[in-house]
Amino acid sequence: MSNDGVNKGRRRLLIGATSAVGAVGAVGAAVPFVASWNPSAKAKAAGAPVKVDVSKLEPGQQMIVEWRGKPVWIVRRDKTALDNLAKIGGRLADPESAVPQQPAYVPGTPNRSLKEEIVVLVGICTHLGCSPTYRPEVAPEDLGDDWVGGFYCPCHGSRFDLSGRVFKGVPAPSNLVIPPHSYVEENVIVVGVDQEVA
Ligand code: FES
Repeated sequence: MSNDGVNKGRRRLLIGATSAVGAVGAVGAAVPFVASWNPSAKAKAAGAPVKVDVSKLEPGQQMIVEWRGKPVWIVRRDKTALDNLAKIGGRLADPESAVPQQPAYVPGTPNRSLKEEIVVLVGICTHLGCSPTYRPEVAPEDLGDDWVGGFYCPCHGSRFDLSGRVFKGVPAPSNLVIPPHSYVEENVIVVGVDQEVA
């Protein structure tokens, strides 16, 4: 192809490109707009509340959602787990959740939850930030006879109960964080929006 042919082809391409946005002048104007709009949209999405339907969450199951770049766990505890939570206070570092690691409208003990059976926790260890594993079983071989179900951090061995309360004698200094959250329907939680307090 001659140079002329290339140029003609290029001109056609340019005309096609500019007509797509309607006017030549709009090309220059659109670039800065897009550049400044994208980050703010991303930032908005990163901080946006997350709506979660928990209707299919069975007793003993855990769901994990992402909120503000962090894992948030939602666990439906069964009757045995709830009974155990009421019995183990003496083994915990902060059984009453005196250190404010949860919103004021969430009861501090023993369930740390708006609804008795469902707990919502930020899944990040309060020691150095690893994500503990969900270990709901009772007395598994690797965790010992006194394990009644909870969260175990493999990084340095911190242990939390099924309300996210930290056990005594582990590196983590405080209970797991409970994020702001609320119920907008019987089975729908919004993580990131505070429960209205009557
Ligand atoms: S980060 Fe969890 S025990 Fe160290």
